[in-house]
Amino acid sequence: MSNSILLQTLAGEKTERPPFWFMRQAGRVLPSYMKLKEKHSFWEMMQKPELGADVTLLPINDLGVDAAILFSDILVIPYAMGMGLEFTDRGPEFDVPLSERANPLEVLNPQPDKLQYIYEVIKQIMAKKPAHIPLIGFCGAPLTVLSYMLEGIGRSKDFPVTTTYLYQNKGMVKKIVEAITELSIIYAKEQVKNGIKVFQLFETHGGLIPWDLYQELFIPAVKKIAQAVRETGTPFIYFPKGIGAGIQDITPDMCDFLSIDWQTPMETARKWVDSSIGLQGNIDPRLLYADQKTIQNKLNQYIDFGSKNHDWIINLGHGFLPDIPYENAKFLADWIKVADWKR
Ligand code: CP3
Repeated sequence: MSNSILLQTLAGEKTERPPFWFMRQAGRVLPSYMKLKEKHSFWEMMQKPELGADVTLLPINDLGVDAAILFSDILVIPYAMGMGLEFTDRGPEFDVPLSERANPLEVLNPQPDKLQYIYEVIKQIMAKKPAHIPLIGFCGAPLTVLSYMLEGIGRSKDFPVTTTYLYQNKGMVKKIVEAITELSIIYAKEQVKNGIKVFQLFETHGGLIPWDLYQELFIPAVKKIAQAVRETGTPFIYFPKGIGAGIQDITPDMCDFLSIDWQTPMETARKWVDSSIGLQGNIDPRLLYADQKTIQNKLNQYIDFGSKNHDWIINLGHGFLPDIPYENAKFLADWIKVADWKR
């Protein structure tokens, strides 16, 4: 039996409390991260092995999470495909959006070697991390990665360039998705070789288009990535944010655990999602703007779900927002550990 409560839950074992980690747990919500950011850029933090490892491990000490997630970004894949990328104060920006290219395939040149520095970060994390804390690896899912590539920058939450492009250039979209998927599989397998124990696929923009169009264009890629990761014996978590009732169509060949967004109640998700698939989620990160009494009242509502469901990992329904008070993030983490889960 593993000594990690997260790996135990993923393996279907019963634990005294649900395990937890948070999306964006190593970001601006941590005062220790902000201190490092005064001296180093985001790129620097994810590219220097020592520094990348230290940042990855910050939330273990600062929040007491049950897992670390590699400090990197989903946009390293388009970068390794030859797209010029900068992380500015306004967020990530590509030099030329793919939608402005007459033939996008001509400018894409996937080079797996350009991801090598990330494996060096993982090696450092392995050397430094506590034995009972597993490392989670990840990559972006095809629609979310594609939408940044086409748009160049997240100017609007609706990604209008992406949706128009999808309807006008379906054939080209399928080819670009194939290229993203191929490199993502190489990347995911290499992460496993270097020591990650869990893998999460981030589809933050899953709700951008109708679910049937998503199924046609992107689910084949999700299945391929899931299969490649699971063949290595690594549990696979899929986070398709905003797909609503689409979670009813998630089948066991797509993931081991499904991460539920803050829009869908956990009880509804449990009724709708195939019973062989475990769940993760789904605290609204914005709850953490409230006072601690309000936060606690809301959290208490999760006890009933947690007492009945052992195949549940606590997480947020999307990542921490940068200006959430650290004290409230810590309050949440501490609450999970002291709550009476009635198990
Ligand atoms: O979860 C983690 O802590 C692991 C590391 C991680 C980051 N980004 C670090 C990051 C992960 C898993 C991501 C995923 C990611 N990146 C997604 C999908 C999940 C999500 O949160 O929606 C997306 C859409 C991106 C693209 C991206 N990267 C944006 C839009 C931005 C700017 C906006 C923002 O939140 O700051 C980034 C920058 C980024 N990626 C930061 C971090 C910690 C902020 C860097 C800083 O401190 O300036």
